[in-house]
Amino acid sequence: MPEHSATAVLGPAGSGKTTVGLHFAADAAPDAPSLFFSFYEKPGRLVRKAAGIGIDLEGMIDSGAAKIVWFAPGEYMIDEIGRTAIREAEASGAKRIVFDGLNAACRPLADDIRLGAFLRALNDRLLALGATIVYTYEVSQLFFPEVLASGQFSGLVDNTLLLHYSLTGPTVERRATLLKVRDSDFDHRGCSYRITPDGLVLEPLEGEKIYPTTTDAVPTGPVGTGGTG
Ligand SMILES: Nc1ncnc2c1ncn2[C@@H]1O[C@H](COP(=O)(O)OP(=O)(O)OP(=O)(O)O)[C@@H](O)[C@H]1O
Ligand SMILES: [Mg+2]
Repeated sequence: MPEHSATAVLGPAGSGKTTVGLHFAADAAPDAPSLFFSFYEKPGRLVRKAAGIGIDLEGMIDSGAAKIVWFAPGEYMIDEIGRTAIREAEASGAKRIVFDGLNAACRPLADDIRLGAFLRALNDRLLALGATIVYTYEVSQLFFPEVLASGQFSGLVDNTLLLHYSLTGPTVERRATLLKVRDSDFDHRGCSYRITPDGLVLEPLEGEKIYPTTTDAVPTGPVGTGGTG
């Protein structure tokens, strides 16, 4: 993700949005910490979820490399969420900020115009503090959703990553598709992924399977340049 950009990670329940947020937040250090605003999962559960994908979030919290701020559902008005987010970002100097489950924060505010203005103001303020931001947002469509052209995120974020399911015969696959990257060309092809004890693992795109399957030799160099196999 480009530095100082805002990214929306959109996907249905269980698609891996929190996992992506955790991976992003995990690349932090005490002098460049991350802040994880959680709207669905309490800190203890997040720490356990992170441990399940090989991320020592507890250790990061202890060292000052990460902080979780949990907003209990229904207990915070959106202005309070905004004020808290800015205060925490200023206090910590966070370089990576995750809002996991932003739809929960938005729900109490039915007024779309006001919500758009709020998100824009919050986003601008956090970017101005030097952060790179990931918003995760649940969508109801399981397969490739077509809801994204509208809504609060259009125009707000620089990058959009869609996590969705894909049906190939009787098999349901997880797929990640980039829809937008700021000022940059990118590969539009959807990429399959698995969630494993090592976290989210992308499968090679078709045509990129360069590793030999019958020998132990693994080519070096960038993917796609060919190999020894
Ligand atoms: N260690 C693990 N090994 C294998 N799969 C895992 C592991 N940890 C989590 N998962 C799987 O990852 C999936 C996605 O988890 P995640 O919480 O990131 O999704 P989400 O999109 O945030 O879901 P929600 O909409 O409930 O917030 C779950 O379906 C779970 O089965
Ligand atoms: Mg989640």
